[in-house]
Amino acid sequence: MAERIFIGVAWPYANGPLHLGHLAGCYLPADIFARYHRLKGNQVLMVSGSDQHGTPITLRAEAEGKPPQEVVARFHQEFQETWQRLGITWDTYTTTGTPNHTRVVHDMFNALRERGHIYKGSMPQPYCPQCQRFLSDRYVEGKCPHCGSDARGDQCDACGQPLNPEELIGARCRHCGAAPQTRQSEHYFLRLSAFQERLLAWVKTQGSHWRPNVLNFTARYLEGGLKDRAITRDLPWGVAVPDPAFAQKRIYVWFEAVIGYLSASQEWAQAQDDPEAWRPFWQGDCRSYYFIGKDNIPFHTIIWPAMLLGYGGLNLPYDVPANEFLSLEGQKLSTSRNWAVWLPDYLSRYDPDPLRYYLSANMPETSDLDFSWREFLRRNNDELVATYGNLAQRVLTFTFRNFEGRVPEGGLDSAGEALLAQSREALAATGALIEACHFREAIERGLALAREANRYLDHQAPWKALKEDRQAAARSLVAAIAVLSCLKTLLFPFLPFSSQHLHQQLGFPGRVEDGGWSFQPPAPGQRLGQPEILFKKLEPSLVAEETARLRGERP
Ligand code: MF3
Ligand code: ZN
Repeated sequence: MAERIFIGVAWPYANGPLHLGHLAGCYLPADIFARYHRLKGNQVLMVSGSDQHGTPITLRAEAEGKPPQEVVARFHQEFQETWQRLGITWDTYTTTGTPNHTRVVHDMFNALRERGHIYKGSMPQPYCPQCQRFLSDRYVEGKCPHCGSDARGDQCDACGQPLNPEELIGARCRHCGAAPQTRQSEHYFLRLSAFQERLLAWVKTQGSHWRPNVLNFTARYLEGGLKDRAITRDLPWGVAVPDPAFAQKRIYVWFEAVIGYLSASQEWAQAQDDPEAWRPFWQGDCRSYYFIGKDNIPFHTIIWPAMLLGYGGLNLPYDVPANEFLSLEGQKLSTSRNWAVWLPDYLSRYDPDPLRYYLSANMPETSDLDFSWREFLRRNNDELVATYGNLAQRVLTFTFRNFEGRVPEGGLDSAGEALLAQSREALAATGALIEACHFREAIERGLALAREANRYLDHQAPWKALKEDRQAAARSLVAAIAVLSCLKTLLFPFLPFSSQHLHQQLGFPGRVEDGGWSFQPPAPGQRLGQPEILFKKLEPSLVAEETARLRGERP
């Protein structure tokens, strides 16, 4: 029976190019998951969009001396190109700047206010006497009261705790360095405290399939007690507050960005010419997955669920498989220090699949992991090229030359039968691992099958058998071709481009997706496509070139 799967993926701030950390953190795992479920025949809705609001955007716009609108439009455009080139298959990728988003945000805001979950109050706000304006959270900097690291007034990146600016030790204005004063300002608040018990109960019953880091973080956070949070800000840039008295203020970026999951789903439905089509995903039988980086956990396991509970009638997350961080050549990624591999730059020199491969095989699911160009080279040359690519290459070229470009006629030998049984098992096991969001183990299962097939082939040596026993050679090629056919499906969620190439070389028409998540060996006599190299071998010199580039030296 087809299942319904909703996939929400963190909305990237449109304030700078996307980098490896974004891809490994949430976009790649979400895409693997979506592709797999679509192959299974499940109904998938995968949405996200560019986060256009918040101080990350205004900081960038100020630095460039451009209006925020111009900055977000430029990066949104670039993001869409990046997704397309990497093969990230959104059902809808939109922005938080659409009238539809504003409408849905206002609907939720008003509903929560009517039900008493949002109330008006006043709060002390940092105010810079020198700049003569209220400072938003990120414009206040100081030390984190929990861990002592340098932090901003919204959150500490080092320990992941959300903060209020007045909690910072030694707070100062980001513009001018003056010590902020505190002035009263009217704001709306989300009554988070009222959701404590319901959230605790929900996490207790739901959390058993969550990753331990997500569950522990959430449980600790809840046990610490929930405080009401201001959801408006003294800012000119953002979604308007549906209250004329708040014309000078905007809705807090996090409150409206998470609503993007719902507004994007409605936008998708409108684009389908079926405006109600979002409902089964939000109100019907459906599992909702939210792919995010670990710095976004509380917003997805506490604040968004509280908003959904308060609104009523909408599905809560089923799982929030947050990833840990990816470091780069042993150091923390830093966009401000330009210690990052930017995706558009990567794509200007390399193919998408080698990166998708490396980040899948090295996905930071249970601990922080490192990206290095040396490992990238090794994984490409030793694993993709030597193990998988080479298997396809030697089987298909040899068959093409010696069997008139067709899958040979003839059955299987017993070792071939065993290999096919292993292929079926590998496909089932990989599917189960992807469903459980264990992507690293899942792709490893695929590579293990390719190694198995190489061993089989080395042992059967059809190139030697051809002269003495053409039938025996044919039988081993039939088995090897069958494994390739399994691999192009099994690896498709991870390596969609090369899987499609292999699909064509095996002589199948159409797209890999057409065959679903199933193992269909090509029929005897099926005409093969022209064999081509699946993966390019990369030069070892790239390691020095890329690390020099990273350090800002000209390679
Ligand atoms: N823009 C935020 C970030 O980059 C993520 C927002 S995710 C959503 O950290 F939940 F708000 F959508
Ligand atoms: Zn100032």
